[in-house]
Amino acid sequence: MKARVLRPAFLLFILLAACAAAYAQGQIKLPPPRTEGGKPLLQALNERKSAREFSSEKLPLPVLSNMLWAAFGINRSTGQRTAPSASNKQEIDIYVATADGLYLYDGKANQLQQILSEDIRALCGTQPYVKDAPVNLIYVADLAKAGRTKTEDIEFYSGANTGFIAQNVYLFCASEGLATVVRASIDRPALAKAMKLRPDQKIALAQMVGYPKK
Ligand SMILES: Cc1cc2nc3c(=O)[nH]c(=O)nc-3n(C[C@H](O)[C@H](O)[C@H](O)COP(=O)(O)O)c2cc1C
Repeated sequence: MKARVLRPAFLLFILLAACAAAYAQGQIKLPPPRTEGGKPLLQALNERKSAREFSSEKLPLPVLSNMLWAAFGINRSTGQRTAPSASNKQEIDIYVATADGLYLYDGKANQLQQILSEDIRALCGTQPYVKDAPVNLIYVADLAKAGRTKTEDIEFYSGANTGFIAQNVYLFCASEGLATVVRASIDRPALAKAMKLRPDQKIALAQMVGYPKK
């Protein structure tokens, strides 16, 4: 009798705990990305450049969604993406640092998963302007996903895989009139600590995105 009464209460407790956990994780559903339009490719290539002055204006969620899809979103029913990766390992994760916290881009679910609620943009690079842009993308190679790739090859492959993603972001920014610069000057141990990364998660590069300073 007691067990029969306890069981629904226990199930309710589990349900509430699950809801609380999902809320605490803070997932942001992204609007469906735009997968057509933009400037012609050759025009975007002609306008691609690095910028180091940014407006503090935030990027609207649809723009963020479009940019992340262009960067490394899923573009085929096979689950493959807008950028290639060696052996299709897809080991590069895109973290998004904003004033509201740090998020991990989940291309499959088209959502951002909150990792931290602190603003860590100032840690995303050693140059003073890194905190000025509303968005800092941090490209992290998750070596656990690289599987049986030979150890000596992993760094080359992850560097190349990151480069494709960064160039997608450059071309998206050129197409949309946004400012961006990819950066290697990062205090990696300090940033990895702030991001609470595992030892087999390696920071490759970071890239700022925002509106150009007027
Ligand atoms: C791998 C890599 C690392 C870079 N690191 C930095 C950096 O730490 N800081 C910076 O201001 N620019 C950095 N840049 C941007 C280059 O300085 C920039 O691409 C170069 O000056 C050419 O300018 P452009 O991109 O406008 O053609 C980096 C670019 C690449 C490809």
